[in-house]
Amino acid sequence: MNAPVPMSPDESEHGTSWPKGDYSRVPYNVFTDPAVYDREADRLFRGPVWNYLAMECELPKPGDFVTRWIADTSVVVVRAKDGEIHAFENTCAHRGARLVDAPRGNAERLTCPYHLWTYNLKGELTGVPLEKGLKGKGGMAECFDKKNHGLNRLRIATYGGLAFGTYSDVTAPIEEYLGPHACSQIQRLLVQRKPKVLGYLRQRIPGNWKLYNENVRDPYHASLLHLFQVSFGIQAPTMKGGIKLDPEGKNTWNHSILSADDAGNKADLAAAYDGTGKFVPDLKMADPRLAQVPLDLDDGYKTTILSIFPTLIVAQVDNTYAVRHLRPKGPGLVELHITYIGFEGESDQSLHDKLLTSNFIGPAGYISMEDGEALRLSQEGIKTRRGGHSVLEMGGVGEIKDTDYLSQEISIRGFWKHYHRIMGFAAPGEHAGSGQ
Ligand code: FES
Ligand SMILES: [Fe+2]
Repeated sequence: MNAPVPMSPDESEHGTSWPKGDYSRVPYNVFTDPAVYDREADRLFRGPVWNYLAMECELPKPGDFVTRWIADTSVVVVRAKDGEIHAFENTCAHRGARLVDAPRGNAERLTCPYHLWTYNLKGELTGVPLEKGLKGKGGMAECFDKKNHGLNRLRIATYGGLAFGTYSDVTAPIEEYLGPHACSQIQRLLVQRKPKVLGYLRQRIPGNWKLYNENVRDPYHASLLHLFQVSFGIQAPTMKGGIKLDPEGKNTWNHSILSADDAGNKADLAAAYDGTGKFVPDLKMADPRLAQVPLDLDDGYKTTILSIFPTLIVAQVDNTYAVRHLRPKGPGLVELHITYIGFEGESDQSLHDKLLTSNFIGPAGYISMEDGEALRLSQEGIKTRRGGHSVLEMGGVGEIKDTDYLSQEISIRGFWKHYHRIMGFAAPGEHAGSGQ
C-alpha cells in the first residue's frame, strides 16, 4: 500500500501560503477552502472595507427601500424620513426572522411578520405587541427596554450617488478609501450626468468571487478571450490604455482608447494571432450597427473598468454604463448583480444606443458571456489541484504600480496585496497557517 501523501500547507484547514512578497503567486486554496471563505465573512466583509449597497437614485423618496447583500448577510437599505440613507441587517431583533422579503418597495415602518415587532426607518424598535401584557398578566420582563433592541445597523457613507456600508469604526473616510482615480471616474460616469436605472440583470457564475475581481482587473485577457471584440474592431491588442491604482493598490481603473489604426489594421492583428487558429480577418457581422454606435462621452475612452475593493465595479463598455456588484454565495459560487444606467434627459436615440450596446454585457452578452465561462473553467481546474499557486507575472514582477500598457497582471497583484493584509495572513514567505 502506498504511504499517505502528506498534506501541503495549502490544503491545511486554515492555512494559505504566499511565497512572494510582490503577490505574484496566489495560493489556489483561497478559491476553494471553506475556512478561508468563513474568514472572509468575519475579517473582510465585517472589517475595514466599504461594502457597496445601492445607488441613491434607487431610493428617491422617504420610505423607499431595497434589500441587498454583503456576502451572505442580507441588508435593508432605506431612505428615512429625514432624507438620510440607513442600512441594517435584515433580521429581527426578537428571534431572528427575516424582516423584509421583498427586493424593493416603500414603507412607513418595518414590521416583522412573526410577532409584529416594529421598527422605524432608522432601525430603532418602536413597537412590541403585548409589551406590558394584558390585564396585568404576561408582557415582557420589567427590565426590557426597546432602546436596547434595535436592528444591527451599519455605518453609511455616500459618494457620487453610490451608498456604501461598513461594520468597522476604523474604515477610512470614503474619498480616501476610493482614491483619486476612482473619485474622478465616479464623477465622470455617474455625476456629470444625472443617472437613472434602466434595468437589472443577475448572473450566477460557478466560480469564486475573487476570480471575478481578477477578471475585471485583467486587460491581458480582453483581446484574447473576447475574440468578438477583436474581430469587429471593439478591442485590439495594439490599442492605447493602462491602469491606475489607488495608493493601497486595492482599487483599479483600467482604461483603453481605440484609434482608427487599431481597428483597421487587420494584417497586423492576423500576424499577432498567427498560429492560434483563432483570428479570422475576413469575418463580418451581417448587421454591423452594434459595433458602430458612436461614443456618447466626448473623451475617447472605449472601455473603462473601475474595480473597487471588495465587490464593486463601475464599468463603461462603449455606451453601456453599469454598476456591477458581486454577491459571494460560498467558495465556488458568486452572483453578479448588474444595474444598467441611463441618464435623465437623454434622447431616444441615445437610449436606443445604450440598449443596443448592453448586448455586450451580462450572462449572454457578446463579451461577458465568455468571462462567466472563464470563471467556471478556472474554478473547475483549481478545485482538482492539490495545493500550488497561480502565476501573475505579465507586465513584470516587483513593484505594484500604474502602467501605460494593457497586457499586465499588476493590478491583480494589487488586489491580492490588500486582500492578504486585510485577512491577516502570515507575512509572505512565512509558514502558512500562522495567520489564523
Ligand atoms: S421574530 Fe420578529 S417579531 Fe418575533
Ligand atoms: Fe472579460
